[in-house]
Amino acid sequence: MLQTGPAGLKALTKAYDNGHALPGFVVYNLETVQGIVAAAEANPGRPVLIQAGSSPFKHAGREALMRLALDAAAASTASVGVHLDHSRDLDEITACLEAGYTSVMVDGSHLPFAENVALTRETVRRARDHGAWVEGELGALAGDEDVSVNASASTAAMTDPAQAAEFVAETGVDALAVAVGNVHGFTAEPVRLDLERLSGIRAEVPVPLVLHGASGLPAEQLRAALARGVAKVNVNAELRRAYLQAVGTALPAALPGSDAVALWSAGRDAVAEAASRVINQLTGA
Ligand code: 13P
Repeated sequence: MLQTGPAGLKALTKAYDNGHALPGFVVYNLETVQGIVAAAEANPGRPVLIQAGSSPFKHAGREALMRLALDAAAASTASVGVHLDHSRDLDEITACLEAGYTSVMVDGSHLPFAENVALTRETVRRARDHGAWVEGELGALAGDEDVSVNASASTAAMTDPAQAAEFVAETGVDALAVAVGNVHGFTAEPVRLDLERLSGIRAEVPVPLVLHGASGLPAEQLRAALARGVAKVNVNAELRRAYLQAVGTALPAALPGSDAVALWSAGRDAVAEAASRVINQLTGA
């Protein structure tokens, strides 16, 4: 079922209170949505977020991907939220809120502080009318959302704890995405988070924190982040890689009979398996 209204926010705060995290899985197509819903159903009582967001809309089309995610969440026996990832566009945010998204991320991290505050505050105002919760972002991440480019965290601007507190107080966001050395996509060297900075942010900020760029993050770094107030973790590249590897392996057998369904099913099952692994990691199972 779709985590509408206060139930959606409760899934986040409950994870926060328990030292767990909600997984936010990025989707691009039917099979990634199906794989994530299958993983949620295989792990009862552990809510997940399908992130049918701004960048994948360019591939699938906004209306199509939005409907796909919302319908799959509503039809599922599991607790599934639908979240807009990395949006900079108030019209897009409003369209998703009106369609029934359970949460949105407004990404004003590229803007000067005051403009980020203004954009985020307006998003919070609009989201309240629809019972959705809002994730804001302060600080910038290295890397790319859709491909792994082997970026390094040193190119990014880290979140300042005092400024984060001011940002949350001025905007009213329900969750804050932070830059503490995390990187979108896989990296050549293992990522080491600035855990001291994360502890500092947690001490100053009264809302759950969000960690983007979890693919390839060493397990002990992830555990340390959860112990410091991270209650939502975004995963994309790990699912993409699982999907592509499975499709690549299944291709030689599928090609002679042009069995596309076998190929797509292999991708879907690989996403389900990878998502299940992440769900278990994030809920301490
Ligand atoms: P990864 O691709 O590193 O998992 O990051 C995903 C993400 O942060 C989406 O917003």
